[in-house]
Amino acid sequence: MSAVLIDGKARAAALRTEVAGGVAQFVATHARAPGLTVVLVGDDAASAVYVGAKGKATREVGMISTEHRLPATTPEAELLELVAQLNADTAVDGILVQLPLPAHIDADKVIAAIDPAKDVDGFHPINAGKLAIGQPALVPCTPSGCLLMIREALGNISGAEALVIGRSSIVGKPMAALLTAASATVTIAHSRTRDLAAHVARADIVVAAVGVPHLVQGAWIKPGACVIDVGMNRITLPSGKTKLTGDVDFDGAVARAGWITPVPGGVGPMTIACLLANTLKAATARAAA
Ligand code: GUN
Repeated sequence: MSAVLIDGKARAAALRTEVAGGVAQFVATHARAPGLTVVLVGDDAASAVYVGAKGKATREVGMISTEHRLPATTPEAELLELVAQLNADTAVDGILVQLPLPAHIDADKVIAAIDPAKDVDGFHPINAGKLAIGQPALVPCTPSGCLLMIREALGNISGAEALVIGRSSIVGKPMAALLTAASATVTIAHSRTRDLAAHVARADIVVAAVGVPHLVQGAWIKPGACVIDVGMNRITLPSGKTKLTGDVDFDGAVARAGWITPVPGGVGPMTIACLLANTLKAATARAAA
């Protein structure tokens, strides 16, 4: 058997079209476009690429994109002051502070300073807490995108065995909360898990989000399972060239899985599309408040 590829690019394009329709309606009703502000501190090359992609996607759906690029030496207090200004700015519906931040800045403090109603990353403790207890919240973009792809593959996942590999606040924990809310039976595996292979072998749904290239071996996958690979690892090939690769041994897994996401072209495009959806959601909620 060869797995069906879950086309994140196509699914993301469909979601962006849906968001663009919602933005047009928002503009017609409120005589302004939703605004997303992205803050980048420092000159991390990968972060700069992500921020550029987010800005472009924001403009393409008709929203206003604003960027603040600050030097790596920016004091924490200055960043907190900028966040306070953005919180107070009525034209700003979404605030995203790109991570990682330079080591001298406490990322938790910065995230906690963002108005939860503008926290389009869904990282604020208020939003994380609401998700954990099943209340409506702004939900982190990567796990939201993963759930959309899982639903596209499997439809109803009630009672399915789901394995989330990774326990980060950005992906693993919110992913587990979303799958639990969808009535899957959820296991969270991490670096201390004994016998990861046995957990993978039981899972109807595997979400791998650990950042270890090819950690999940193809032979472990339960035949027919839905495999979502969040990993974005840059590896160097023997030729000296680099390439992006996931946390799953794709070539091995594709022969056993029922559905699988490619890297790149799977989860990545969905994350940005979900960010746009969150920004429209935040703008709509703020306009109604
Ligand atoms: N860095 C890598 N992914 C993300 C993300 O989804 N949000 C933020 N703020 N920073 C990131």
